[in-house]
Amino acid sequence: MEYKVKNIDLAEDGRKKIEWAEMHMPVLMKVRERFSKEKPLNGIRISACLHVTKETAVLVKTLVAGGASVRLAGSNPLSTQDDVAAALAAEGIEVFAWRNQNNEEYYYCLNKCLDLKPNITLDDGADLINTLHTKRTELLEEVMGGQEETTTGVIRLRAMAKDGALRYPVIAVNDTPTKRMFDNFYGTGQSTIDGILRATNVLMAGSNFVVIGYGFCGKGIANRARGMSARVIVVESNPVEALRASMDGFQVMPMKEAYKVGNIFVSATGDKNVMREEHFELMKDGAILANSGHFNVEIAIPDLEKMKKSKKTVRKDVEEYSLKNGKRLFLLAEGRLVNLASAEGHPSEVMDLSFANQSLCSEYLVKNHAELEKRVYDVPKEIDEWIAKLKLDSLGIKTEPLTEDQKKYLASWKEGT
Ligand code: ADE
Repeated sequence: MEYKVKNIDLAEDGRKKIEWAEMHMPVLMKVRERFSKEKPLNGIRISACLHVTKETAVLVKTLVAGGASVRLAGSNPLSTQDDVAAALAAEGIEVFAWRNQNNEEYYYCLNKCLDLKPNITLDDGADLINTLHTKRTELLEEVMGGQEETTTGVIRLRAMAKDGALRYPVIAVNDTPTKRMFDNFYGTGQSTIDGILRATNVLMAGSNFVVIGYGFCGKGIANRARGMSARVIVVESNPVEALRASMDGFQVMPMKEAYKVGNIFVSATGDKNVMREEHFELMKDGAILANSGHFNVEIAIPDLEKMKKSKKTVRKDVEEYSLKNGKRLFLLAEGRLVNLASAEGHPSEVMDLSFANQSLCSEYLVKNHAELEKRVYDVPKEIDEWIAKLKLDSLGIKTEPLTEDQKKYLASWKEGT
């Protein structure tokens, strides 16, 4: 048994956090109950590159209950919860993760994780798949399939599939309704505001709050910010989403207008340089810059570095850049995803849905990999619906059953006016 974490003595704190998450993840616990009996993952090796949080710990313990051997690495240098990593290691799970890694350490951990010679890969951002396809190609043969948890990662994988570079089937867990309608929308919405507030404690009410990107994540952030009485402005390049933002009641404008009025800026686009030199130059003194997208490329930090007169840390996770034009900009969490770096990530209740998908899709890959092609697949509809039903059960909510007559009507085309 091998592991590398910051401090194994933190295990007891981590264990309590994991127990707390388990209490709030009823669907995943139900999967664990079945997995413990049926062992559908017996003998399967799973390499996972995910944010090492209490929720991820519940997933990993579920996979292990199903019979899998799991190695876990963090999917971001700043998101690992060291006490959780310690708790997992203390329980005999091979974790390679600690908070505040440099690039070299990050890839060291990914490679340790891949040394397991995985049959299944679990990714959050596609770095593991990418490393496997570029630097560890000798391992490809034993891989049955993979899964991807983020919008950013799915974009990368679709590009790989389009180029014919993808060497095994991957399930886009991110795109399934029980994931992105809840995790991306409610999870990112709440945890992003949580991260900004833990880092700064600024008043949201009455602030000009600029959300850049109006996908599922951006929609969630904008709605939660509105709920705290911020004046929300949306910046979006896709005309359909921009129209939606407008009809949702938000002000919509391009960056060249938004940067002059914003007090708080949050990016959630999956693209690079969405806040850059030309914007920083004209932002108001005191503007706060945060990113909620997967990679730290959305805020052009090299531009800030170039424009700075001086820089200092003014609070935990808050860096003040004094620019040559005399203004100060405050960068949160080094431009890394603020919801995981400055807060605890999405609440357990939504990760319950995402990780129930991950665990059931692992079982699906074991059973069906031989029939799958080397492309990106959706989560099977039965899995998605089963998860929604179970979540409703856990909340004591019942749906309206259709009569036989109604079902027949929906399946037919002959009845008209
Ligand atoms: N991504 C966002 N929030 C997360 C969490 N709590 N655990 C794992 N991955 C996450």
